[in-house]
Amino acid sequence: MKIFQSLVIIQSVLVAFSEQQQICPALTCDSSINYPIVDQNNICFQHSADSPVTSIRTYSCNQKQQCGLVDGEYAWTRAIRQNNSTQNRTARDNSQVYQRITEKTCEDIQADDQLLQNGRKCELPIQCISRDCDSGKRKCVGKEEGQSCESHQDCDINLACLPDSSFPFKTTCKLLKGTGESCLSDYECLNTHFCWPPLANSSDYRCLEMYSQDFMKDYGFIRNTSLTQIDASVNAGRYCKSGVALIINNSSSRCIEIVNITSTIDNHTTNQSSPYLCSLTNNASSGCRYWYRLFNQTVNRVLAEDYCECSLQPALNSRFQGICPFPGQDQLSQFVKATRILIENTDCHTLDRYSMIAQNDCGAGGKGGDLYDQWAIATETLFNLTYWPFIQSNQTNTCMQQVMTLSRQSIDKSQAYIISLSLQSFMMVLVTLLLIQY
Ligand SMILES: *[C@@H]1O[C@H](CO)[C@@H](O)[C@H](O)[C@H]1NC(C)=O
Ligand SMILES: *[C@@H]1O[C@H](CO)[C@@H](O)[C@H](O)[C@H]1NC(C)=O
Ligand SMILES: *[C@@H]1O[C@H](CO)[C@@H](O)[C@H](O)[C@H]1NC(C)=O
Ligand SMILES: *[C@@H]1O[C@H](CO)[C@@H](O)[C@H](O)[C@H]1NC(C)=O
Ligand SMILES: *[C@@H]1O[C@H](CO)[C@@H](O)[C@H](O)[C@H]1NC(C)=O
Ligand SMILES: *[C@@H]1O[C@H](CO)[C@@H](O)[C@H](O)[C@H]1NC(C)=O
Ligand SMILES: *[C@@H]1O[C@H](CO)[C@@H](O)[C@H](O)[C@H]1NC(C)=O
Ligand SMILES: *[C@@H]1O[C@H](CO)[C@@H](O)[C@H](O)[C@H]1NC(C)=O
Ligand SMILES: *[C@@H]1O[C@H](CO)[C@@H](O)[C@H](O)[C@H]1NC(C)=O
Ligand SMILES: *[C@@H]1O[C@H](CO)[C@@H](O)[C@H](O)[C@H]1NC(C)=O
Ligand SMILES: *[C@@H]1O[C@H](CO)[C@@H](O)[C@H](O)[C@H]1NC(C)=O
Ligand SMILES: *[C@@H]1O[C@H](CO)[C@@H](O)[C@H](O)[C@H]1NC(C)=O
Repeated sequence: MKIFQSLVIIQSVLVAFSEQQQICPALTCDSSINYPIVDQNNICFQHSADSPVTSIRTYSCNQKQQCGLVDGEYAWTRAIRQNNSTQNRTARDNSQVYQRITEKTCEDIQADDQLLQNGRKCELPIQCISRDCDSGKRKCVGKEEGQSCESHQDCDINLACLPDSSFPFKTTCKLLKGTGESCLSDYECLNTHFCWPPLANSSDYRCLEMYSQDFMKDYGFIRNTSLTQIDASVNAGRYCKSGVALIINNSSSRCIEIVNITSTIDNHTTNQSSPYLCSLTNNASSGCRYWYRLFNQTVNRVLAEDYCECSLQPALNSRFQGICPFPGQDQLSQFVKATRILIENTDCHTLDRYSMIAQNDCGAGGKGGDLYDQWAIATETLFNLTYWPFIQSNQTNTCMQQVMTLSRQSIDKSQAYIISLSLQSFMMVLVTLLLIQY
């Protein structure tokens, strides 16, 4: 056993040495990550807590629990940062674990069932933010139109907490705004709308209908410096039927489509097909190029560039291959098509507009039939668009599905468990009532 262990160590040292440029860790989830001492709380996420990152492990939680990983809180890895962290080891910015969770234990699903927005299904008032569960409709309810409010969550569905147009700007629950009405955030607009400048070169925000504009439509642009180029195009592209826009300058964008993706795998000479492999050997900012074409032209132009990303698959990593961070027009068009149906068929609160969990309850997902199928497609394609490079093998996809809050598997699991819990509490109320009566 000892000999075997030393062999393994020597082997890993050799591997590390011969592949000094080995860039990415592997993601695995085939065995439990509990400490040897029997522990009630299973560990569902364990990051090697080093930088460059050497491994990421996950493990499925039991039926009553979930991992609940929230983007932005847990440590992960990016190919470019793997390389950077070998360059300057005094800068905190080069660390991939600074102020990030590197280990997480499974948490009880019911914790998530608390504090629901208005419109969500409920059995008991304590489940609702409003502390008011309509016993007939079995839904959380808020204040009605015209009632005084302090924030959006006070108001019932189809309403937002908005000020009067003149002094003293009293805030009351008012109907959500439609096309062309002035706004400060998406939450003030109808569920089918978002808040964005309709004119190029202008910062005058209006409620605009999502996914409604044709190819070549010009309109405004607002930069969010925390988004990558392609994510900024998709964020602005919410106005376009295609779901993606060309960013012309700091204040204007234009509806276009992604026609092709090229990568450093062959120095951008051929168009790549799914899953869009790229090369990690020279970690260039132009690892992947997303192309568009104007309708009256014959040449393609670059819409956005991004770094090649770790696939987290050992088989690909060993050949210094990664996967482009975004999958292109196919997945995006599927997402847009399903999302349009979703936003036209929701009875959820405006604050729940981006929550697929909520949309599976008060939105299209809760309505069954074809509407449920559209919810499922929207959920799956959103997951695909978010985690594309990390879900391209059976192993990595299985791991991601099990632990990411956004995944179809996680949502279905918590929904099933919550339904069983609600039934239990409903039965208990019934039993109590019967006992009181007799
Ligand atoms: C990584 O290093 C390169 C070159 O030193 C630099 O241009 C780039 O901004 C760095 N990236 C990150 C994410 O730190
Ligand atoms: C490394 O980063 C630190 C902190 O940002 C900086 O002070 C230092 O000059 C950097 N060293 C090199 C060699 O770039
Ligand atoms: C857009 O804004 C820039 C600077 O604010 C100005 O120079 C330019 O003329 C404007 N363009 C249009 C079409 O209004
Ligand atoms: C910018 O994008 C980040 C990441 O998606 C988001 O958390 C943030 O709210 C955005 N900021 C604005 C002003 O929209
Ligand atoms: C941005 O581009 C639009 C459309 O091409 C143009 O009208 C506008 O003047 C540009 N604005 C600036 C600030 O350059
Ligand atoms: C766009 O905005 C960024 C940051 O807000 C600024 O650095 C850049 O110079 C601007 N570009 C143009 C063309 O105005
Ligand atoms: C990649 O293509 C560019 C432009 O086509 C060329 O200048 C460069 O030499 C090529 N690099 C390699 C490694 O082939
Ligand atoms: C995109 O790539 C595919 C596959 O290589 C190719 O058949 C097609 O012509 C390309 N489309 C454009 C617009 O370049
Ligand atoms: C790492 O970054 C350095 C410069 O910051 C660059 O010279 C080197 O090629 C990069 N290595 C890899 C494997 O990307
Ligand atoms: C193509 O269309 C754009 C935008 O409508 C226009 O500015 C440009 O002049 C046109 N080019 C040709 C060659 O027709
Ligand atoms: C999501 O991506 C996976 C992996 O590429 C693919 O097999 C699946 O069909 C995609 N889902 C949808 C709904 O397109
Ligand atoms: C991946 O999973 C699918 C469905 O579970 C299976 O049909 C396929 O054979 C698996 N592929 C590999 C390479 O294991």
